[in-house]
Amino acid sequence: MPKLGVNIDHIATLREARKIFEPDPIKGAEIAQKAGADSIVAHLRQDRRHIKESDMFKMREIITTRFNMEMSVNPEIVELTLKIKPDQATLVPENRQEITTEGGLDVISNFERIKKVVDDLKTNDIIVNLFIDPRADQIEASKQTGAEAIELHTGEYSNASSSNEEDRYLQEIKEAVGLGLSSGFIVHAGHGLNYKNVRRIAEIKGIEELNIGHSIISEAVFVGLREAVSEMKKLITL
Ligand code: PXP
Repeated sequence: MPKLGVNIDHIATLREARKIFEPDPIKGAEIAQKAGADSIVAHLRQDRRHIKESDMFKMREIITTRFNMEMSVNPEIVELTLKIKPDQATLVPENRQEITTEGGLDVISNFERIKKVVDDLKTNDIIVNLFIDPRADQIEASKQTGAEAIELHTGEYSNASSSNEEDRYLQEIKEAVGLGLSSGFIVHAGHGLNYKNVRRIAEIKGIEELNIGHSIISEAVFVGLREAVSEMKKLITL
């Protein structure tokens, strides 16, 4: 059974819509931990569009499970990561115009830079996870960096437009899990997983952890809305 990493970025996205103090992603991390999350994931982007560095430092204080920081290989972010000291760093590609992380890291084309960042993080006792597409050449290049873990991008599977396409992407992920394990990696998976499509990925043997954000935060709105409305109703009822 895979573990569950909960990405709390989109609590901060909602906060930034008003640029005030609520909803607080730290409170979200506490609730997710109490509900059984095996790790808390947050992405400190270069544009700080949701999570801020102050969130990351506070998160470090309260996370009792495992703190998995998503990050680019940008030097400023790497320097901050060494100060924040997450338990795990997940290296992701970052493009300023993107709505969310698009595609996995191209470890082959950016090998030297990625290897240097992996070395720096490992020297500081941070476990390194590379977010890559489920492809043999990227898995092989990842091995040469010295990273301990890979996270297979499930975006194509999640966005499949037919069941044939979904089956094909699922098969690719299964093969990549097998290759990742035989290369000695801890294998994770994530991106675009939701309450409908997660089961087939969770059934793949050998995946250590699934990292899920958007669909959990989306579902939380509706799971919590009834209580939120009735609490406000009580307050204004004189
Ligand atoms: N894993 C990685 C490496 C990601 O970049 C993201 C998105 O931040 C996720 C998992 C979670 O994706 P989603 O929000 O679509 O569940």
